[in-house]
Amino acid sequence: SELRMKVIAIDGPSASGKGTVAAQVAAILNRDYLDSGALYRLTALYASQQNIDWHNEHEIATLAYKLPVVFSTDSILLNGMDVTAAIRTETIGMGASAIAALPAVRTALLQRQRDFLTPRGLVADGRDMASVVFPQAELKIFLTASAPIRAQRRALQLGLATDGADYQRILNEIEKRDQADRSRTVAPLKPANDAIILDTSLLSIKESVEKVLDWYRKI
Ligand code: DC
Repeated sequence: SELRMKVIAIDGPSASGKGTVAAQVAAILNRDYLDSGALYRLTALYASQQNIDWHNEHEIATLAYKLPVVFSTDSILLNGMDVTAAIRTETIGMGASAIAALPAVRTALLQRQRDFLTPRGLVADGRDMASVVFPQAELKIFLTASAPIRAQRRALQLGLATDGADYQRILNEIEKRDQADRSRTVAPLKPANDAIILDTSLLSIKESVEKVLDWYRKI
């Protein structure tokens, strides 16, 4: 197929490091960066602030259409409130995963995601950047790592031990969310046909960024 939008799509499971890699690639190439998961997280947080149930497809889609969000370099404002940390909790992650399974919510967020593309070009990370949101992306990467490695990275990030009970709990949560994201009927988590698989289990962030840039230079 003819791939030509000035977009690098980086999809993959939670805690794979795709966000960090995508943001660094965007900075190096002087492009904008879209963290699409943040939009799902913002929608879940906004719904819970308004006491709307995460299964109420119609009401949540309505919220998603008019999400009053402002993205700046290092913070995200929702309705004028700084929610940068609030959207990163595990509870909101589970809520994001739940509302992301609702077709009307995905439709509501579609144009908003596409609007992030300007002449500067974009690096977009998520689950369906390559398959649904930017099918014409010039480069498509499916960035992954084994579940135990992702659990270790998440534990380190949270300042917890990489073995024992905390590690086990994180591993269970990661496997549960993977299962939910893979098994949903709309835009399930899976590599696009034309995506390059990047397994970062044995790679550092820097090495992963280099791999993406190598492929980009060969387009
Ligand atoms: O990448 P993340 O962990 O911040 O994403 C949170 C949830 O949002 C994830 O469990 C599934 C959903 N999501 C999605 O369905 N499609 C995207 N493009 C990005 C995220």
